[in-house]
Amino acid sequence: MIIKQMADIRPSEITDQQIYRERRRFIRNASGFLVAGMASAVLHPRSAQAGHGGQSIEGVKSSSFSTKEKLTPYKDVTSYNNFYEFGTDKKSPALQAGSLKPRPWTVVVEGAVSRPGNYFLEDILKGRSLEERIYRMRCVEGWSMVIPWVGFPLGDFIKRLEPAANARYVEFQTLFDPVQMPGQKRDVLEWPYVEGLRMDEAMHPLTLLAVGLYGEVLPNQSGAPLRLVVPWKYGFKGIKSIVKMRFLEQQPRGSWTRSAPHEYGFYANVNPQASHPRWSQRRERRIGEFRKRKTLMFNGYAEQVAHLYQGMDLKNFF
Ligand code: MTE
Repeated sequence: MIIKQMADIRPSEITDQQIYRERRRFIRNASGFLVAGMASAVLHPRSAQAGHGGQSIEGVKSSSFSTKEKLTPYKDVTSYNNFYEFGTDKKSPALQAGSLKPRPWTVVVEGAVSRPGNYFLEDILKGRSLEERIYRMRCVEGWSMVIPWVGFPLGDFIKRLEPAANARYVEFQTLFDPVQMPGQKRDVLEWPYVEGLRMDEAMHPLTLLAVGLYGEVLPNQSGAPLRLVVPWKYGFKGIKSIVKMRFLEQQPRGSWTRSAPHEYGFYANVNPQASHPRWSQRRERRIGEFRKRKTLMFNGYAEQVAHLYQGMDLKNFF
């Protein structure tokens, strides 16, 4: 993977999504052989200046897990966000997140693994080939998007850490630094932001650690430099700007579950049959569309993930 300094124009700003798709297809076809042979991705940390997005990521492979649905425009993906560390309304993260410094970046690994320690971002990415995964994303608030993420399976990183047999869950934490993240000066949530997955969910091939979107480095408001993407769960599971992973025997409690346990459960699987106490989850509004559409079980990923929850009552385990 090569992160290039971009010239003054950002392709995503001028490229409509059809052209974006065609350009990616062309790059893939033209360099398919080269990309396939690019087992060892190279990160150029100095060129990834501040990680404010806009640097293109080369050598990204396509994935059979991608949906062919219409992409949500880059502008919407990066200006309509939930990132309470930068304010609670949708526009604030894009306006405020410039104070976050996504380089240098370290992820601390603790708990039931043979290889705990401090992992530099460059080290996490070294030798890893990156994939583009176009995923449907559904927020618990009732809106959805289709986003071309760039990342790699979380499970690939976890395997390298050699989890112990009693590691049944992974807990993730976002950076806590009220100077870089001024929204943390207000008690809207318990800081740092925390989320968790069961180990089999974390190891599932759909679960990604994302470093980019639309072929470019993640902009800060999208969770730079490293965020979780779990497409069959409500968006709040997709913790941003991760600095810590803890491998635990006990189920961790996420920030939303702590703040409103009857509204936000641990599993957060997209389930149109289980209403949120204050609103139905049967339908959703795809950003950019007027009419609401039906929400699909597991956000349309049932074929891949339903077996993880066999025998569980998903209204109880919401
Ligand atoms: N991660 C952190 N650290 N802080 C947050 O407020 N919001 C969550 C999730 N990850 C959040 C977070 C919620 S509620 C959603 S819907 C998604 O991020 C939104 O991701 P997006 O802005 O990239 O669409």
